[in-house]
Amino acid sequence: MGLNYYQIKRKILKARKLVIQATAAAGSGHPGGSFSMAEIMGCLFYKYLRYDPENPGWEDRDKLILSKGHASPGLFSNLAVAGYFDPEYVKTLRKFGSKLQGHPDLKCPGVEFCGGSLGIGLSYSIGNALAARIDGKDHRIYTIIGDGESDEGQVWEAAMTAAKYKIDNMTVFLDRNFIQQDSYTEKIMPLDEELLGDDLSEMWKDASRWKTGDKWRSFGWNVIEIDGHRIEQISDAIRRANQTKGLPSIIIARTIKGKGVEHMEDNPQWHGKAPKPEMVPIIEDELEAQFMIAPSIIAGDMSNLEKEVKRCVDGRADYIHLDVMDGQFVPNKTFDHTKIKELRPLTLIPFDAHLMIDEPVKHVHDYVDAGSDIITVHAEVCDESSFGEICDVLHSNEVGIGLAINPDTELPQWCYKFVELLDQVIIMSVVPGKSGQKFIESTHEKTRRVTKDLREHKFEGYVESDGGVNLENIGACFEDGARAFVGGSAIIGQNDVRMIIKEFRNQVLESRRRLLIKKAHDLGGTELVNSWIDLHVVGEKKDKLVQIAKELGFQ
Ligand code: DX5
Ligand code: ZN
Repeated sequence: MGLNYYQIKRKILKARKLVIQATAAAGSGHPGGSFSMAEIMGCLFYKYLRYDPENPGWEDRDKLILSKGHASPGLFSNLAVAGYFDPEYVKTLRKFGSKLQGHPDLKCPGVEFCGGSLGIGLSYSIGNALAARIDGKDHRIYTIIGDGESDEGQVWEAAMTAAKYKIDNMTVFLDRNFIQQDSYTEKIMPLDEELLGDDLSEMWKDASRWKTGDKWRSFGWNVIEIDGHRIEQISDAIRRANQTKGLPSIIIARTIKGKGVEHMEDNPQWHGKAPKPEMVPIIEDELEAQFMIAPSIIAGDMSNLEKEVKRCVDGRADYIHLDVMDGQFVPNKTFDHTKIKELRPLTLIPFDAHLMIDEPVKHVHDYVDAGSDIITVHAEVCDESSFGEICDVLHSNEVGIGLAINPDTELPQWCYKFVELLDQVIIMSVVPGKSGQKFIESTHEKTRRVTKDLREHKFEGYVESDGGVNLENIGACFEDGARAFVGGSAIIGQNDVRMIIKEFRNQVLESRRRLLIKKAHDLGGTELVNSWIDLHVVGEKKDKLVQIAKELGFQ
């Protein structure tokens, strides 16, 4: 059984932090290409790949072939998180005698292929897939190749071979991050179209430029193109590829090299360069501070929620907040699981169902069946026994587990028993019952206090601010410790949802940059602040950091 969306996100975070620790300890390595495939690795290791860390040679295991072997830190970190060896061991990366070398080799448990010399992994995968077919085995071969690696002719020979032999027990990922060893792929050997300037965002803007998929289709492959950092899209693509029979499947995952660390993102210099040890704690805080924006659709046209969901999709929401009100727990009624079931086919974006209903334990199954990805119930209408039952239902259905408290409610004592299972805690910043209300200011202190308390009890989920969140207060909510933000009237109530979500993100980014500069100053004074800022490419982002440092009096 796989993990739910939130648990996978948390495992990916752990793996990214190990990549930073490993490469910093080694003083060399490839963080950039490890981070571009981080979500792909997360979906494979924690949802689809069949393996047994206690028995690495299990003959019926699925096999993960990392053809772009230089991204070995991204593989080793997941082998550690998955339980093949102690996570601390990653700090022996590239040391004499270590099983973890610059490129994977078979000394390391869980490694299937000695990647490194590029272009070979797909051929090796085809051999394994044919052998499995001959042996009548039903295990699957998963392969990750690089876009720079695709300059190797053998990749295309293998592409022809896979089509000829109708290899459909293999799922291939192309980690399409547009950067290879010493420059942008579209400057060295374009797979799409020539990149004229140095602004990679060009490659994301206009899908009509994307020609890579056509190349693989012309070789007879089933092609699925996705955003390679959206877990919901990766997971669905693997499901579809694994169901495709009679021809090979490739998932072209458009990704960002160095994703998760602002100064590494889309920056060719982090293809093969290690972070300095003094930067590790700051980078770890940055990785911990990933956040989500969740528009609340009841702030829109209640007679046409399909349209409101589509506005969230166009706006690139991270997830969609569905406020279910039963007219008993709160005076208003909005919709129930039947509406969620209707909305489900519209998008893969995770549904964040906030149940403002009485006796949730009686209804939670309906919201699972309707396709919710996370279900949050109110502590005011639960007790230890009913919430325990709800946890069992959600856990066994791979649905995220959420607990909400009203402005005048504290976390009940019984909830600490479930804290390590919890994926989300909603701290209501309005009295529940309708959108468009004003943020209750005392919630800032409460969020800081409750978040601190939860962290002290090993809560690893997300604190969500819900109610009256807007551009003016979201930065403060982030500093309070919230990492998920519901926007009803401040997002769905506006005309241009995409622009306003971008503005929400920018506000949180501003607060995160401030947090990281303060961290740098705590650790190493002005000198480390300046070194941190200097990691960022000259331009708008760097100017903003200088401005923040000045405002904080660190420059
Ligand atoms: C209130 C709901 C909130 C609300 C958010 O009971 O739980 O999610 O819809 O809308 P705004 O952001 O307008 O307060
Ligand atoms: Zn809500």
